[in-house]
Amino acid sequence: MSTIEKPQLDLNQIRNDFPILKQTINGHPLVYMDNAATSQKPKTVIDSISNYYSEYNSNVHRGVHTLSQLATDLFEKSRESVSHFISSESSANIIWTRNTTESLNLVARTWGEENLSSGDNIVLTSMEHHSNLLPWQKLAQDKKAELRFIPVLKDGTLDLNQVESLITDKTKLVSIVHTSNSLGTINPVKKIGEIAHKHNAKILVDGAQSVPHEPVDVIDLDCDFLAFSSHKMLGPTGIGVLYVKNSILENMEPFFRGGEMVLQATLKDATWNELPMRFEAGTPNIADVIGFDAAIEYLNKIGMSNIHNHEKSLVEYALKQFKKLDNVTVYGPEDAEKRGGIISFYSANLHPHDIGTFLDSYGIAVRTGHHCTMPLMKILGVPATARASLYLYNTTKEIDVLVETLQEAIRYFTHAKR
Ligand SMILES: Cc1ncc(COP(=O)(O)O)c(C=O)c1O
Repeated sequence: MSTIEKPQLDLNQIRNDFPILKQTINGHPLVYMDNAATSQKPKTVIDSISNYYSEYNSNVHRGVHTLSQLATDLFEKSRESVSHFISSESSANIIWTRNTTESLNLVARTWGEENLSSGDNIVLTSMEHHSNLLPWQKLAQDKKAELRFIPVLKDGTLDLNQVESLITDKTKLVSIVHTSNSLGTINPVKKIGEIAHKHNAKILVDGAQSVPHEPVDVIDLDCDFLAFSSHKMLGPTGIGVLYVKNSILENMEPFFRGGEMVLQATLKDATWNELPMRFEAGTPNIADVIGFDAAIEYLNKIGMSNIHNHEKSLVEYALKQFKKLDNVTVYGPEDAEKRGGIISFYSANLHPHDIGTFLDSYGIAVRTGHHCTMPLMKILGVPATARASLYLYNTTKEIDVLVETLQEAIRYFTHAKR
């Protein structure tokens, strides 16, 4: 990370950069705590998208005219920024997709199709988002391969004692969520990757909830694949990233076929463009790639370690405040060091959807439901949870508002039931 990290966040300044945070919802100041679903966007991101359309809208990679060259330069500059952001070997290792989900499917349908055979296995965890489960279910069915799961312990961490026996010489891929979107747990993906590599298996990291919140360095992690989404890290929707290590990328077949990804075509066959364009068929989402660059610039300016530390102190504070709530269970590790800024909670007396609606009437946005982790909900023994997920612009004062409103909700619904 090239940025000089500042010791503390200037929350007034940061909040001022996000136009949406200035509004009231149902007569109350917006308290936005649904960042794990999608984050808000600073004005610089919104402006950069608007500037593209109003000043140099044109297609990339194919025009000799000025506008097309400008668009191409900024489109590729964004790829460079993402590459630096995760310390990857080069921008050629960065493939644009639509989102984390598409990145994961791309690996399953290209590398997975080519490298899995009957009798092989893929190791996942029981806390995976459906996006890092369903593509492997389909691949395993097609290839007659086995899916194995590292279990989740009661404290919301992985049962690491089982990793050594689950990963074997038949394991081709270990695909693991870095920070759980339902529990907040930060998983030791580097350590698990070392075990995978001992068996010549590849490690894929689902970074949807980690890359936006802490420094992630693919060389240090030594991961083979990393997937994440722009929209969860201040950038626009419609842009995802797949990082692939050089040695693997060079041998991967294209996912989609068509314009842009081709070098030579005859009526019978074709050869592929250089990397990473081989994986980017058709006109890409130019405006949002450029908008994503503005998001990366914003995050770099604040400093990823500063963001991570801010969220850690928020979560530590929130965990303490939640103890004031009667009959409310908070999931995930108690130690703030082991978790990101995600607080999932459940009360047998209150349905999570009622909590969500009640909080909304006070301007507080949280998520309720299974968070696309149905198997994990089953393990926790709950139908759903309410989830407050934090980011760089959240404050301890907002946590106070959340906890006070939850106390009010508990009073309200307990009374209503009598
Ligand atoms: C851990 C995790 N993985 C994958 C995804 C899928 O991300 P997207 O919807 O951007 O494809 C999410 C989204 O919430 C997530 O939290």
